[in-house]
Amino acid sequence: MANPGLSGRECRYGVCTTMSSNKYELVNTTTGKKSVLEARSGTVGPDCISVAGINKDHGVFTFDPGFMATAACESRITYIDGDNGVLLYRGYPIEQIAAKSNFLETAYLLLHGELPASSQFEQFDRSIRYHTMLNESLLRFFNGFHYNAHPMAMVSAVVSSMAAFYHDSMDNNNPRHREIFAHRILAKIPTVSAAAFKHMLGQPFVYPRNDLDYCANMLNMFFAVPAEDYVVDPVAAQALDLLLILHADHEQNASTSTVRLAGSTGTNPYAAISAGVSALWGPAHGGANEAVLQMLEDIGTVDNIEKFLARVKDKDGSTRLMGFGHRVYKNFDPRAKIIREMCHKVLSRLGQNDNPLFELALRLEEIALKDEYFIARKLYPNVDFYSGVIYSALGIPRSMFTVMFAIARTAGWVAHWQEMIGDPAMKIGRPRQLYTGPTQRDYVDVDKRG
Ligand code: ACO
Repeated sequence: MANPGLSGRECRYGVCTTMSSNKYELVNTTTGKKSVLEARSGTVGPDCISVAGINKDHGVFTFDPGFMATAACESRITYIDGDNGVLLYRGYPIEQIAAKSNFLETAYLLLHGELPASSQFEQFDRSIRYHTMLNESLLRFFNGFHYNAHPMAMVSAVVSSMAAFYHDSMDNNNPRHREIFAHRILAKIPTVSAAAFKHMLGQPFVYPRNDLDYCANMLNMFFAVPAEDYVVDPVAAQALDLLLILHADHEQNASTSTVRLAGSTGTNPYAAISAGVSALWGPAHGGANEAVLQMLEDIGTVDNIEKFLARVKDKDGSTRLMGFGHRVYKNFDPRAKIIREMCHKVLSRLGQNDNPLFELALRLEEIALKDEYFIARKLYPNVDFYSGVIYSALGIPRSMFTVMFAIARTAGWVAHWQEMIGDPAMKIGRPRQLYTGPTQRDYVDVDKRG
């Protein structure tokens, strides 16, 4: 229990559970002051002990760096059971959604809580297609970036700039405005991403085609050039659609929590989504898919796996097996299983059965899963272990992998932002701290400093 006073003071609290199965008692063992902490039960998953009142009752805070045991909000969107490898979007298992749905329908489900009737889906799909174009002024922003700018930097900056285009027309308290924002950002994030890609390549921007579906349009914007015809490969569009479904949401991960925290101040939602893009970029989060491919290329051949794993296991080293491990999953990430299966299908349909990176990834997984280091720490492949292999097979370069993730996760970010803003009990997110710096002291004039 964090004591809010100055450092070095003794903590004097005990927690006992004697009251009942869902009531805990917090006791100050010096003064004898007691208060009751009630546990709240969700529909499924572990109970949460409500500690919001302990500062008022006892003058203390809780201390949980990295949110290892802290639920920061109540949510009805996504459920993960990390011990059993379960992921549910609005109650539906990811395996069923991956097998039967498509990304736009999944986005609708995340946003609205229910699968759409066909007329509802048609309306949603039409609205998303209608909003795909970017304001030409926004498009000109890309000319300000150097050709080798990382696309995540460009996407984050341009999404943030969208706040400048849709500020006066955006009232967070107006549900219709919130809906238009949701449709706009879902529709435009592939266009922004494609513009970043084309800027990197030095190729002309390709305007969206609203006759194509979400993924086919995205591939067309990425790969079409004015000099020749481009026909979207339906296998590629289908593979992309599945990857987007699998990355669409993952409850309170770092980037989603960032969107919630930024959004809780009432900021323009494009600015909040841009904060999410930035948080996603790190290699411990969405940037892992890029890092996995780099790692596979560095390992090079199956013969080098043992040497590489020795580096990973070296206590004094900092090398990690990228694409392995997860804060929540202490079992197989169900998305990794689906993607590995899809890798086989997609690579064979694209005529890349003997893709060396995939063979290397399969062997690396096999060896790591039998290794005591990974077994003891419950480290399994996560969603990003195989996604990069598929993106590469589709012709998408490594630096764009995290952008692909951001396109998908926009659906989840928007759903969480909507859920939070629509909640009348919403409060600004404002964590507290355990202060361990100097206690009060007097300013020392420069000529008296040693
Ligand atoms: N390779 C080697 N060792 C690992 C790995 C890994 N990928 N992941 C965790 N460990 C080890 C740690 O060194 C630590 O060992 P120790 O107990 O001997 O010190 C133990 O496992 C626990 O690791 P933590 O870092 O405390 O676990 P945490 O839950 O904080 O981290 C994370 C989770 C960041 C995902 C981590 O597993 C990791 O860095 N993985 C590689 C990056 C990656 O793939 N990220 C993508 C996550 S999925 C996503 O965001 C989409």
